[in-house]
Amino acid sequence: MAAVSAELAVGVVGAGTMGSGIAQVAAAAGHPVLLFDADPQGATTAKGRIASALARLVEKGRMGGPERDEVLGRIQPCADLEDLGQAALAVEAIVEDLAAKRDLFAALEGILPRNAILATNTSSISVTAIAAELARPERVIGMHFFNPVPLMALVEVVSGLATDPSVADTVFDTAAAWGKSPVHTKSTPGFIVNRVARPFYAEALRVLTEGGSDAATIDAVMREAGGFRMGPFELMDLIGHDVNFAVTCSVFDAYFGDQRFTPSLVQQELVLGGYLGRKSGRGFFEYTNDPGRPSPSTAPTFHPPGGVSVSDLPGLLGPLLASIKDAGIVIRTVAGQSADLVLDGRVAIAITDGRSATERMAVEDSPSLMLLDLALDYTTATRVVLAAADQTTPDDLALASGLFQALGKSVSVFDDVPGLVVMRTVCMLANEAADAVNQGVCSATDVDMAMRRGVNYPLGPLAWAERIGVDRVVQVLSNLASSYGEDRYRVSPLLQRKFHARGALL
Ligand SMILES: NC(=O)c1ccc[n+]([C@@H]2O[C@H](COP(=O)([O-])OP(=O)(O)OC[C@H]3O[C@@H](n4cnc5c(N)ncnc54)[C@H](O)[C@@H]3O)[C@@H](O)[C@H]2O)c1
Repeated sequence: MAAVSAELAVGVVGAGTMGSGIAQVAAAAGHPVLLFDADPQGATTAKGRIASALARLVEKGRMGGPERDEVLGRIQPCADLEDLGQAALAVEAIVEDLAAKRDLFAALEGILPRNAILATNTSSISVTAIAAELARPERVIGMHFFNPVPLMALVEVVSGLATDPSVADTVFDTAAAWGKSPVHTKSTPGFIVNRVARPFYAEALRVLTEGGSDAATIDAVMREAGGFRMGPFELMDLIGHDVNFAVTCSVFDAYFGDQRFTPSLVQQELVLGGYLGRKSGRGFFEYTNDPGRPSPSTAPTFHPPGGVSVSDLPGLLGPLLASIKDAGIVIRTVAGQSADLVLDGRVAIAITDGRSATERMAVEDSPSLMLLDLALDYTTATRVVLAAADQTTPDDLALASGLFQALGKSVSVFDDVPGLVVMRTVCMLANEAADAVNQGVCSATDVDMAMRRGVNYPLGPLAWAERIGVDRVVQVLSNLASSYGEDRYRVSPLLQRKFHARGALL
């Protein structure tokens, strides 16, 4: 199936943040672009914004002057919707309102050629519902771009119940021809990214609510141990709590109150108080006097242990052993040792399995137990999280901190919350990704690509689950389910099946 040919016109309706980005990308790919906005000045103003964006590209040497002129010359602001009559593809980026989108598409059906494709950039409305009352619902599809459109590679190509598969293939190929990374998905709440990303915010909000740590420290841990570009709290402050909370509530309602998507009371309070984030000068953090990024809490420096015993199957911490040795700490291998590391024969360190350290120490025959949170790569992580069981002493925690400090890492001490923060977030992201695949919303490779390209995750959630072990993910989720007694942490049937079959997710 071929893309919409570059000689054919693309109509863009709604010349706001998204519409102007879509017009820019379509024109850069060679299409004549017909741009319309309900506001009479809207399309002309948008063309001015695009001209400024292209001027910046020329300044940076990423685009030549003549090319800039050609791209701009292809964008034609239109005074009337009827001016879109020659468009082979129309992309709608108007207000997020079902009635408005239905009215617009009904009008476009009467204006555009019969075989034109009508695409919506909606983030949260059912594509099936938008198409429902039209004469040709099979020509309607979601073409969901991410903000800022010229920079973000992902496009979710969203098929509604009536969408003709050949229309989906054409839009997929067209997005690829525009230099984007398209993925096929079905019209389900949140599509892929806005659904699978919910735990990134939700688990951090829960750890904060339960006093596991403060927002600045959780952000630092998610960046420096988890490898995410931004922490969840600074990202929510950037997106705006009104917008982020509304998306969470809409996904929660759309899934009929599934506990996996329960919104946070902490975030609701911010919205009610008008603490909307950067745009209002205050969210989780203050922005008015530009005080910069707040400091995470970091443990003071302690002495390292003299010796560490490791299991003969060192698992995820195996790659750290060389650095421990380089730090002058004696390593001894002990067959069958259950803890990942035992320091000076008296303090055990284990990667979290979704139970609290306090529970684990009570039921396991363990010396003083410290839990370690997940890191994307323990050798390169610059910060790690430790939590002490209630039965331990401050000296025990100091010894565990001293080990990681000797390896050049900062240590953040959390309260003993189950699953800490990186591990529970990654396991819940993988769980949601697996459920989306299990429900036929997208393929396993597409969900991983969508999360890397749409929200810049350092690894796709399913690849991450493979890396840490599906058995471990299932164990963490099952332990969280029993710690909280909530349906929220139920394990996706796909993960359970792969766990029993010892099968690969990808
Ligand atoms: N902003 C984002 O990050 C983002 C990301 C993905 C998808 N979306 C979706 O894209 C769409 C547009 O979002 P936006 O952020 O660009 O909004 P925006 O407010 O910046 O722009 C919307 C534009 O549409 C115009 N408009 C409104 N009703 C119209 C109508 N009936 N006919 C013609 N023009 C009309 C408005 O005058 C405005 O210029 C929404 O459906 C939104 O959910 C937004």
